[in-house]
Amino acid sequence: MSEPISIPNSQGLKKGLLTSTANMDGVRVPINRPLFGDEELKAVMSVVKDTNLTSSNLEGGKKVREFEQALASYLKVKDVVAVNSGTSALLSSLMAADIGPGDEVIVPSFTFAATANVVKMAGATPVFADILLEDYCIDPDDVAKKITEKTKAIIPVDIYGHVSKVKEIKEIAYAKNIVVIEDAAQSLGSMDKGSYAGSIADMACFSFYASKVITTGEGGAVAVNDQELARKLRMIRNHGMIQGYDTTILGLNMRMPEVEAAIGVEQMKRLESFIQLRRRNANAFTEKLRECKDVVPPYEPETKRYNYYLYTIYVKNPRDALMQRLRGAGYGAVVYYDTPVHMTPYYQKSYPVSLKNTEDAAKHVLSLPVHPAVKLEEVEEMAVLVKSFGNA
Ligand SMILES: Cc1ncc(COP(=O)(O)O)c(C=O)c1O
Repeated sequence: MSEPISIPNSQGLKKGLLTSTANMDGVRVPINRPLFGDEELKAVMSVVKDTNLTSSNLEGGKKVREFEQALASYLKVKDVVAVNSGTSALLSSLMAADIGPGDEVIVPSFTFAATANVVKMAGATPVFADILLEDYCIDPDDVAKKITEKTKAIIPVDIYGHVSKVKEIKEIAYAKNIVVIEDAAQSLGSMDKGSYAGSIADMACFSFYASKVITTGEGGAVAVNDQELARKLRMIRNHGMIQGYDTTILGLNMRMPEVEAAIGVEQMKRLESFIQLRRRNANAFTEKLRECKDVVPPYEPETKRYNYYLYTIYVKNPRDALMQRLRGAGYGAVVYYDTPVHMTPYYQKSYPVSLKNTEDAAKHVLSLPVHPAVKLEEVEEMAVLVKSFGNA
């Protein structure tokens, strides 16, 4: 077994490609990319040779258990249940909390659609709350205003790898018996006051989609501190079965395949070095953009550590022209998200709501590549393009 990669060398790793709906012709430096070494290849080969590709045991297969243990000990939580996507992590958490028709779940609209879609899939009603512009995460004051007798859960989203105000939200929620499910799909390895994102909510959901800080291709996991809840989640990912065909509660097939878990075990060994490279690039960016009056770099409070899954600036004007300029120079700048969920065609008619900060952010944010394969010279070049933009 070779040592984890050292900083700042990510050169030996194979760089994968991501499919994207945006036009990325001519882009050399994509917004994110999977990074694999020989260890991932060997781990996959060994599962394939073993032919134990999956397990419908309640506890899951050997590699699934190993991946879960690696995540639980990293996050310092009692248990982790691996599933086949971040979406499944969210849906199984709602199912484990018995959320269904007649219940309301408060979610931000400034997120990937999965956060709201799972609420609909569970048969409940999403209620959209606004965000704070300081970190683009849900605003606890707006959450408090949107609580009704029907509210059963709140899903703060750690957007861009920033960390939501989970403690404040827990205080509001617990007084009213409301479950807090953190959408930590983007924030593996981010921290707040010494605790990892996803370690203090009732349940926290991670994604290992190909763009994420570590990946298993597709994949997800739920972190919990309650062993009973963990057991329920394991049943839900396995059609509610405990032993054989004994469906005891409602569930689905949300199992993570062994090949993916084997990749995840190797990726976990690289996680801290990946985050340190992302943070090196992000800090270099912020240093260079500090004096630029046309953009606001991300603000990281002293008590927090962001994983910089996305390095997102607020561009005063005109954002899309700057994005095109960066893409023209080979950098895959991307807007996450130009259409907030409540304004998408599916939601806008049924959920009419005005969310001032969300709509403002959607017009002004721009994410720039800082993943581990981005070199400091490239950060420098992007910063020059951003800084000179207002004067071009
Ligand atoms: C904030 C957020 N929530 C949920 C998800 C869903 O995760 P997945 O794509 O693994 O289903 C994502 C993933 O892209 C995400 O970014």
